Amino acid sequence: MNHEDGRPRWWHGAALYQLYVRSWLDTDGDGFGDLGGVIARLDYLSWLGVDGIWLSPTMPSPDEDWGYDVSDYLGVHPELGTMDEMDRLIAEAGKRGLRVLLDLVPNHTSSAHPWFVDAAAGRDSAHRDFYVWADPGPGGAPPNNWLNATGSPAWTWHEPTKQYYLHNFLPSQPDLNWWQPRVHQAFDEVLRFWFDRGVAGFRIDVANGLYKDAELRDNPAETGAGPLAGKFGQRPDYSANRPETHEVYRRWRRIADGYPAARLLLGETWVDGADRLASFYGDDDELQLAFNFPFVFASLDAGELPGIVAATLARLPAGACPVWTASNHDVGRFPTRWCGGDERKIRLALLLLATLPGAVVLYYGDEIGMTDVHVPRARQQDKMSGGGDDGRPRFEGWQGSRDRARTPMQWDGSPGAGFTAGIVTPWLPPGDSATVNVADQRADPGSVLGLCRELLRIRRAEFGGQVVGYQPLAAPPGGWAYRAGDLTVLANFSDRPVACQDPGGPVLLSTTGAAPAAGDGAGLVLAPWQGIVARTADAGPRPEAGQRPAAASAATAARTKERAWST
Ligand code: GLC
Repeated sequence: MNHEDGRPRWWHGAALYQLYVRSWLDTDGDGFGDLGGVIARLDYLSWLGVDGIWLSPTMPSPDEDWGYDVSDYLGVHPELGTMDEMDRLIAEAGKRGLRVLLDLVPNHTSSAHPWFVDAAAGRDSAHRDFYVWADPGPGGAPPNNWLNATGSPAWTWHEPTKQYYLHNFLPSQPDLNWWQPRVHQAFDEVLRFWFDRGVAGFRIDVANGLYKDAELRDNPAETGAGPLAGKFGQRPDYSANRPETHEVYRRWRRIADGYPAARLLLGETWVDGADRLASFYGDDDELQLAFNFPFVFASLDAGELPGIVAATLARLPAGACPVWTASNHDVGRFPTRWCGGDERKIRLALLLLATLPGAVVLYYGDEIGMTDVHVPRARQQDKMSGGGDDGRPRFEGWQGSRDRARTPMQWDGSPGAGFTAGIVTPWLPPGDSATVNVADQRADPGSVLGLCRELLRIRRAEFGGQVVGYQPLAAPPGGWAYRAGDLTVLANFSDRPVACQDPGGPVLLSTTGAAPAAGDGAGLVLAPWQGIVARTADAGPRPEAGQRPAAASAATAARTKERAWST
């Protein structure tokens, strides 16, 4: 079911693009990308066919965590540009039909934010309770067992006022106290300030964080494995993931919906399980999009991904829009994580991302198959994930230094990758731009970039403005087959050829560029790691949007069986 309330939900079926501003294009020659660089390449993004861009943090910051430590929510980081440039960026993007989302960091501020500076000035200061302060535990120990994202205690002792303050990330990122109503009011103003400037929405950092347990109870031990199970042996039941956070999103949603062109709230919902993910959509009154980390952390495997997709679609409220992504600035790039740099797999992964119902978020460079870059220790910039010198384990969700996926966009084959206008050393070293770059791939329609662009074109034509229905089809081991709207997707996740039923309609795209070979009878044979998108012929009723795969009708099940693959 799609919403028929007369308000266009432009993110339905849309392709968003996460653009790490510092690494996109440096137009002022200081070695950092900037807003001028974003403006200069809007035509590229429009050519690529995305519908909106999410800019990594653009607000003033001491950059202890590269912008995720905000010192002014109503400004533009001077290293990246000016407010005039931001206004121009939004206007120029708008002329090309591109929406602009900003990164909003409500879980914590920078310790340089005036609120925290004031809060630290004394126990009676006006902003003291904007943050989470607590008396020491027995013997002067931290108030509880919470650990931060580096595995250290999440509390820092503040000698002048003789209390600890909470920071679930670095000590320079004190957590805000969402039990304080004035924090809500402050963020209401932040939202309105940017919405009024034409920002189309926000990606909300640490969206499942915000509220902390009022009694500051110890987190329980975590026995499960994997990055979503917890961190450093703890399950963050009390330091994050509190039910009160949902009320924040209901409030923000009312603000977002108060604009004639509804604004989008996209949450970084770092939670396990489709039910918990679904809770962030509320009753269509919280976030409109919530990132799906079980999907991110799955492997590119036909035994794993289809189950996650089915579970997601089964659990999201009717009409909700799922969002699929595989790379970001924290977890690394899918061409490395999922594909080990194998171009066949990169093409197949792009096909999946582009043909699942809902919204897709590409990370800059995904479209050319950019892989992670080895950044030598001496050049690493990230304080949160780097180091390891102290012998502490690093958070496994980041799988190494996050710098590896934050290197300059590879625009051309020159040694500097076409990233900087200056003769300076870029802030992070570019990867192998001689082999993988936009200029070469743009000249070759058969390239990964050409494939990605064609996928986005098909996606927009078929899915634009809706959440199309999804119907899994039976597939042999190593294969995944599904209908999405009027399309049928067949994908071979194995090293051997796989035979399948012909979807009947014309093949619109093949990841290898070649049509699948004819098999016995009405079958097709997909080459190893080949995927195709075909139009479904004679498919009966289209799968209904929001349909739960498990609830498929007997007739659909019979049809599915009939169309089953055979090996
Ligand atoms: C989110 C961001 C990450 C940042 C952290 C703290 O997870 O994606 O980059 O370090 O929050 O703000």
